[in-house]
Amino acid sequence: MNTLIIYASKTGTTEKCASQINRQLENSKMVNILNQHEDIDKYDLIIIGTPIRMGMIDKKIKKFLISNIETLKSKKVAYFICCGFSENWKNYYKQNIPKDLLDNAIIYDTFGGEIDMKNQKGLDKFIVKMVSKNIDKNKEIKILKENIERFAKRLNEQ
Ligand SMILES: Cc1cc2nc3c(=O)[nH]c(=O)nc-3n(C[C@H](O)[C@H](O)[C@H](O)COP(=O)(O)O)c2cc1C
Repeated sequence: MNTLIIYASKTGTTEKCASQINRQLENSKMVNILNQHEDIDKYDLIIIGTPIRMGMIDKKIKKFLISNIETLKSKKVAYFICCGFSENWKNYYKQNIPKDLLDNAIIYDTFGGEIDMKNQKGLDKFIVKMVSKNIDKNKEIKILKENIERFAKRLNEQ
């Protein structure tokens, strides 16, 4: 299946996850929404990946979803989010992605995330410092490899 992976990534985790999905699919192409444009009509399957910051998906991804809502409703679409607090993942979808799109999705899931202080800049660094005081130190924030594999498997069955 001709597949397009559209993603946003501020500190590289979502890009890393997009690459892992890309490697597990045949005939797929990755596009960073920040600096690349691609006509989605040419593709049978669209995968959309975004990080979560302050409970929200990336602004450019949000804009892309709204501007292409009718096309996306008519296609096979799968979504993944990268987030530090994966226990909230279903709420992030509910709060950010129109219900019509979620109802039409083949799959939507969380791939976990990473928060590395040395990758943070400006306000993000400040926020992470503040928030990290309240983070449960026993809870590891990491990429959920098994979720990526399950996601790729489901798409390969299409
Ligand atoms: C400023 C800031 C705010 C964040 N807010 C949230 C949040 O609200 N919920 C959450 O689960 N993770 C949050 N995270 C964690 C990110 O989702 C995680 O670092 C993710 O892996 C970033 O992906 P990226 O490297 O592709 O940008 C936040 C991270 C930063 C730096």
